This record gives sequence, structure tokens and C-alpha cells, in this order.
Amino acid sequence: MECPEGYVSGEALSELLGVSRTAVWKYIKEIKEDGYEIKASSKKGYRLGPGGDILNSFEVMHGLDTAVMGRKVEYFKEIDSTNTYAKKLAGEGCPDGTIVLAERQTAGKGRLGRAWASAGEKGIWMSVVLRPGIPPEEVQMITLGASIAVVKAVKEVTGIQTGIKWPNDIVTEGKKVCGILTEMSCEQDRVNFVVVGIGLNVNHKQGDFPDEIIDRAVSLRMLAEGRQTGIEGEADKAKLKRSSIIKEIARQLEKVYFDINEGRASGIIDQWKSYSATLGKKVRVSIKGVEYTGTAADITTDGKLVVDCDDGERREVVSGEVMVRGILGYV
Ligand code: BTN
Repeated sequence: MECPEGYVSGEALSELLGVSRTAVWKYIKEIKEDGYEIKASSKKGYRLGPGGDILNSFEVMHGLDTAVMGRKVEYFKEIDSTNTYAKKLAGEGCPDGTIVLAERQTAGKGRLGRAWASAGEKGIWMSVVLRPGIPPEEVQMITLGASIAVVKAVKEVTGIQTGIKWPNDIVTEGKKVCGILTEMSCEQDRVNFVVVGIGLNVNHKQGDFPDEIIDRAVSLRMLAEGRQTGIEGEADKAKLKRSSIIKEIARQLEKVYFDINEGRASGIIDQWKSYSATLGKKVRVSIKGVEYTGTAADITTDGKLVVDCDDGERREVVSGEVMVRGILGYV
């Protein structure tokens, strides 16, 4: 990686790493099996190819300049749910900012008890363990902050602009590209830990989504191919490299996390509003079997959605399902 243009001889590698030439050859074989493209020349040695969308802990941690976020990364080829595993790690005392990643989830969890489709090699299925010094009632700020981090990261790496449907669905062109599931463990007045689970559709073609969501889901690749985003050519595919997007999510999440921990939460609400795909829109709210319709008017300083209801009442929504007209098939 440090010599992108050139070859490195087997001899130089064996000296640098303090292992035999045979060991170098064996390691090269192993990392080829991990998906890396390595050219070998008997005269010149080995050369790392441009590489595709390879995901592992090293790819995420390499060059990551954060102080807390992603200082520890655990990667799995397959797992039931990264959130479930991250909660276990958090209970065992893992460091603040630990990231759990999986290529594929067999029991991915969505909000409101739903399942989350998490096919292999298609998306970013990641969970982040946080230990914020805030009371439980302020954890909503982390939920909102995480969605800001994803919107900014996606824009920064791919150029694709997305918006946020309250509280933290990332949407564009009426379809969902990312969902976030925040789970926490707390006592009455203190938070033990928060797990922020991020599911971002990256490489899917339309047919890769299950039938139930095929009309409501979209991936970054579909967005890139469907419009002039500047990601048309083969060389630009690097902009959809999952490890680069994860690194940027970690950077952005760290910024909002520090803001929240250091009492600058008002900036989070302002940013959330600027990316909102909800405010000013007609909404249908459904909470524990009760439904009402109205217009999304505002968001409170502690992250509740304010709805001017059609019956003339103004209500604040803390949790539950909010359908926004024009998004995810709600007409
Ligand atoms: C939603 O319903 O919109 C939230 C979806 C959250 C999915 C992510 S994928 C990584 C993490 N692990 C899970 O089991 N769920 C979250």
C-alpha cells in the first residue's frame, strides 16, 4: 500500500518483516485469498493491485485519524447481528468507539422489531459502541447525530446528497438508503452504553433487495448509476469503496459525539434541520395503535418531532412510526 506504483522484492519484505522468503510467499497467498490482487514477478517481486471493495478491520483502521472512533474494529464474515454482538462487547467493557462490522448478517435487526435485509458484500452493516456522559433522556441526540454523520460521510466520499426522515432514516428520491438502530443500556440517571447500528445499502442492484422492500429501498450504486453524480467510470467505483465510507462515517460520528458530550447539542438540531426530508411535509404518525395525520412543523431542542395535527392539536412525537408523504411509498 505504501508503494502503489512499484514492486517490492520478496527479499525486502522478508527483511522488513523478519520472516523467511517462504513465509512471505505463504502470506502473499493468504492475502490473495482475502481478495487482494497481487502481481508477482520473479525479477521484481510483488506489487499490490488497485484492489476492489475489500472489507476487513485493517482496511478500515488504515489511515483512520480519529481519537476514539474505530480505535478497535472487529470484523466478521458472517454474524447474526452486529448490534447484538456490540452490546455483548459493551457489557464486557470494550473501549468507547469500538466498531463491529460484518460482511453479512443472518438476523439483522431494524427499528420497531423489524428485520433488516443484510446480504453479503452489498452493504455496510456496522455497529458502534459509545459511552456518552449524558442522561438517558438525551440519547435521542446520538440518534439524530448519527444520521447527520452518515449524510455528511456519504456526501463527502460519493458526492451523493441524501436527506433525513425523522428520526434517522437516510432517504433520497423517496427511497431509503440507510437505516439506523440505536439501542442503549442505562440506569435511572446514567447511560452505561449506547450501540448505534448503521445499515447502509452500497452495492445492491434493485433485484438484490427482498420483494417486500424492492420499491422502497435504494443503494448508493443505484443512485450513482441512475444520475450524474460523477461516479460513472470504472475508476470512480473507488468512491463506493465501503472501507472509505466507513472511515468517513467514523470521522463524522466522532465530531457529533464530541459535540454532544461537550454540551454543543444545539448545533446538532440545527444541522439535522438543514438535512431534514420531514419538516414542512404531510405526515402520518402511528404510536401504539393510535394514528393521526398532520404537518411536521419543527423539532424540539431535545429531538422530538413537533406535528401540527389535522385535528388542530400540536403534538410532540418521541418514538413510533412517522410516514412522510412522498417518501417510502406513502402517498
Ligand atoms: C431501521 O429499521 O431503519 C434500522 C436498521 C438498522 C440496521 C443496522 S445493520 C447493522 C446493525 N445491526 C443490526 O442488526 N441492525 C443494525
